[in-house]
Amino acid sequence: MLTLAEVPVPEPGPGQVLVRLRAAAANFPDVLMCRGAYQVRPSLPFTPGVELCGEVARVGDDVLGVRAGDRVIGGTALPYGGFAEYAVMNSSSMLPAPEDLDDAEAAAFFITYQTGWFGLHRRARIRAGETLLVHAAAGGVGSGAVQLGKAAGARVIGVAGGERKAEAAYAVGADVVIDRHKEDFPEVVRRETGGRGADVIYDPVGGESYQRSTKCIAFEGRIVVVGFASGQIPSAALNHALLKNYSILGLHWGLYQTQDPHAVRECHEQLSKLVADGVVRPLVSERLGLGDVRDGLQRLADGDTIGRLVFEP
Ligand SMILES: NC(=O)c1ccc[n+]([C@@H]2O[C@H](COP(=O)([O-])OP(=O)(O)OC[C@H]3O[C@@H](n4cnc5c(N)ncnc54)[C@H](OP(=O)(O)O)[C@@H]3O)[C@@H](O)[C@H]2O)c1
Repeated sequence: MLTLAEVPVPEPGPGQVLVRLRAAAANFPDVLMCRGAYQVRPSLPFTPGVELCGEVARVGDDVLGVRAGDRVIGGTALPYGGFAEYAVMNSSSMLPAPEDLDDAEAAAFFITYQTGWFGLHRRARIRAGETLLVHAAAGGVGSGAVQLGKAAGARVIGVAGGERKAEAAYAVGADVVIDRHKEDFPEVVRRETGGRGADVIYDPVGGESYQRSTKCIAFEGRIVVVGFASGQIPSAALNHALLKNYSILGLHWGLYQTQDPHAVRECHEQLSKLVADGVVRPLVSERLGLGDVRDGLQRLADGDTIGRLVFEP
């Protein structure tokens, strides 16, 4: 059961930092974690909230280069997550908050944009002039991928569920948006690309979205498997990948934090430049209080949100 409760302010351990919350963004993994259905299962009770923007309040032992008052973004060190007045972060996963973003936008600028950058550039090696298809293009991860695809010089086709979401996908820069409630997306993608299909498909939904994507992937195309918001983990037909010469690329961005932390910092610098140049900006659709966490996460689970919901204390 998810409840709002008074708990003691946590203590940062060695290598950790206590932050005073400025804002925390809701992500699908928060939903899964609260249901005990995520790969990370903190023991109960725990405070959810995987990413935030905060102000350094206290620095633990063995932490260098961080001072009280610094405005930072990054992932939280569970069980002391971000949906609280105070949270704990590992200093290794803290980054400076971009000055051009307000607290709510900065809170939503970590996981989504890092994932989009690594998915599109490092995994799919997207090139200017290619066609990128983004599923759930008005969602958190999807809206970020639309912006990053445009920044990379791609033509972006978004898929969204319903008119309100289609409008939001256009507003973040998609060239074409397909309302999946009204149209068959593979057919539209083939039509829009002269029969060739999409060069890169960014898929945070899985299930039918993945299966149908294989009907409109281009020769030497790349499908980036980002997540399974539909709740269905599809199986790939490898004979089809062989016959059509496409690649299926898994993406678990969190692993880069331990496998290649230098690349994560470099990525943050590149992303911060894009913010400063006015090219990307997180789509924060609602700014809510900590008392709204339960309702907000339920709406995210139900596929009823646009961009990011952000909670502020
Ligand atoms: N691989 C990684 O490293 C990584 C990193 C971050 C997030 N993720 C994953 O990315 C996915 C998206 O996360 P998010 O926080 O940005 O969520 P979100 O995209 O804001 O919300 C999910 C969206 O999926 C679509 N959807 C389609 N079928 C659905 C269903 N049956 N139930 C709910 N939603 C459905 C909905 O958009 P439409 O109605 O417009 O289709 C919905 O808005 C999650 O699976 C998450 O775990 C992966």
